[in-house]
Amino acid sequence: MKVTVLCASGNTDGCTHALCEGFVRECTSRGHDAELIDLGALDIEDCTGCGVCRKKGRCILSDGSGELFAKVEDSDMIVMATPIRFNGPSSIMKRFIDRLNPYWLSDKPHPSKACGILCGGSPEPVFSHALSELRSAAVTLKADWAGELLIADTDSRGCGGADVKGFAEKVLS
Ligand SMILES: Cc1cc2nc3c(=O)[nH]c(=O)nc-3n(C[C@H](O)[C@H](O)[C@H](O)COP(=O)(O)O)c2cc1C
Repeated sequence: MKVTVLCASGNTDGCTHALCEGFVRECTSRGHDAELIDLGALDIEDCTGCGVCRKKGRCILSDGSGELFAKVEDSDMIVMATPIRFNGPSSIMKRFIDRLNPYWLSDKPHPSKACGILCGGSPEPVFSHALSELRSAAVTLKADWAGELLIADTDSRGCGGADVKGFAEKVLS
C-alpha cells in the first residue's frame, strides 16, 4: 500500500510527530511505501468559501495544495494525526479538512482507507470532537475508516508507551 501520514502538529519534537514517525517505520517494515508530510510546513491557505470548486470541481487557490492533494489522491491510505487543541483538532488539521471541499462535491481519485492518530495532553482528553472531524474528512474523501489511535496524558507521560505496532497491524491489514 501507499500510505501518506499527515502530521498536523507544528511541534516536530512532540508526541504527534513521534507517533507519525513510528507509524511510518511500521509501514516500511511491512513492505509498504510510506511518506510523512508535515502539514504545518506547507503553504496551505484557508478555504475562502468562494464556491468555484462547486462549479469546476477543483480549487483555484494557487498554493502548495496541488502537490499535497496529488499525494493524497495517489495514496491507498491516509493517516490524519493531530494533537488535541481546546477539545478539537489543531488549526493545522482543520485547515487541511476545510480544503477537502472539492472532494465532497465531485468524484475524484481518493484513498480507499483513512485512519487517525490523536494526542491529548490531559489524563482524560475529549477526543470525540476531533475524531468526528477526522471521520467526516474520511467520508468526504469516500475513504473507509480503518481506526484510530488515541493517546492521553502526553503532557505528563509522553507517548513512549503508545502501541503504534498494534495500531499499524490493525489498520494495515
Ligand atoms: C493551545 C493548546 C491547547 C490544548 N488543548 C488541550 C485540550 O483541550 N485537551 C488536552 O487534553 N490537551 C490539550 N493540549 C495539550 C496537547 O494536546 C498536548 O500537549 C499534545 O501532546 C501536543 O501535541 P504534540 O506533543 O504533538 O506537540 C493543548 C495544548 C495547546 C498548546
